[in-house]
Amino acid sequence: MSHIELTVLGAGNMGRALIGGLLRHGMRPEQISVGESQEAARATLSRELGIAATVDNAAAVRKANLVVLAVKPQDAGSVLRPLAADLQQRRTAVLSIAAGVRIQALQSWCGAGVPVIRAMPNRPALVGAGVTGLFAPADTDASCRAMAAQIMQSVGEVVWVATEEALDVVTALSGSGPAYFFLLAEAMAMAGADLGLPPETARRLSIATLHGAGLLAQGSDGDLSRLRAEVTSKGGTTEAAVCTLQTAGFNELIARAVEAATRRGRELADQAGGTSR
Ligand SMILES: NC(=O)c1ccc[n+]([C@@H]2O[C@H](COP(=O)([O-])OP(=O)(O)OC[C@H]3O[C@@H](n4cnc5c(N)ncnc54)[C@H](OP(=O)(O)O)[C@@H]3O)[C@@H](O)[C@H]2O)c1
Repeated sequence: MSHIELTVLGAGNMGRALIGGLLRHGMRPEQISVGESQEAARATLSRELGIAATVDNAAAVRKANLVVLAVKPQDAGSVLRPLAADLQQRRTAVLSIAAGVRIQALQSWCGAGVPVIRAMPNRPALVGAGVTGLFAPADTDASCRAMAAQIMQSVGEVVWVATEEALDVVTALSGSGPAYFFLLAEAMAMAGADLGLPPETARRLSIATLHGAGLLAQGSDGDLSRLRAEVTSKGGTTEAAVCTLQTAGFNELIARAVEAATRRGRELADQAGGTSR
């Protein structure tokens, strides 16, 4: 990562998680500048990670060859537009993690010739266990792609997708996905409590099962059906539960949920369009 001169704009939850991940992965503090408008967020960054941030975004991007845009989607336009001349002059690459902000809008704010890449991370990035979908337009050069991947790998896995539309599906699957697992774990804990376990015991069993199942799946060859078969003996307890779920249309329900999230993501992105502040 020695070739990266990084600026992070927005040192909120995600910005801080990325900076922490990068420092743990060997990036030197001198390689990182940060623009952050909020005094409290600048103080937290300095206290937790020993990195000073400035309120002056133009000063923060001056030396960068890569800018990570980590402000809220509605702030993306107002943050990028004043920096356009500088970004164009030095052809500084911009990696946006702002959910639903399209390449076309980013490009219009940054101006011609500025390489723009989108990333869709998820919440577990905050504990270094995220997964990020990345998309770059076809004319993006290999060094920009490599820098973007290196940055996002500091907080978990990365997956490239071939079209920008596919990022909406990434958003619906892994972006919103932690909430689906939390919902399942919550329902399991409630079922356990209803069947007589102390609620706190049921909650702990549910969370530990979520964690352990995730580790098993992560450490496997990725064949989820086989993993499920391995814990589902013929005529046993797991089979009774899985049969109940599948007969009630569990798979179809999940498919509908992910489809609804994809559709909603597209609606929100269309509403924001290029009109963000
Ligand atoms: N958190 C997640 O799980 C997650 C997952 C996927 C993608 N994302 C994306 O990541 C981005 C950041 O999310 P987050 O949760 O980290 O948000 P956040 O905690 O609100 O952080 C954004 C930070 O940027 C600051 N900011 C606002 N305007 C600025 C400006 N002009 N210059 C510099 N800094 C400015 C904000 O200050 P104010 O509070 O004063 O506005 C805030 O401290 C969002 O676009 C979101 O869509 C987040």
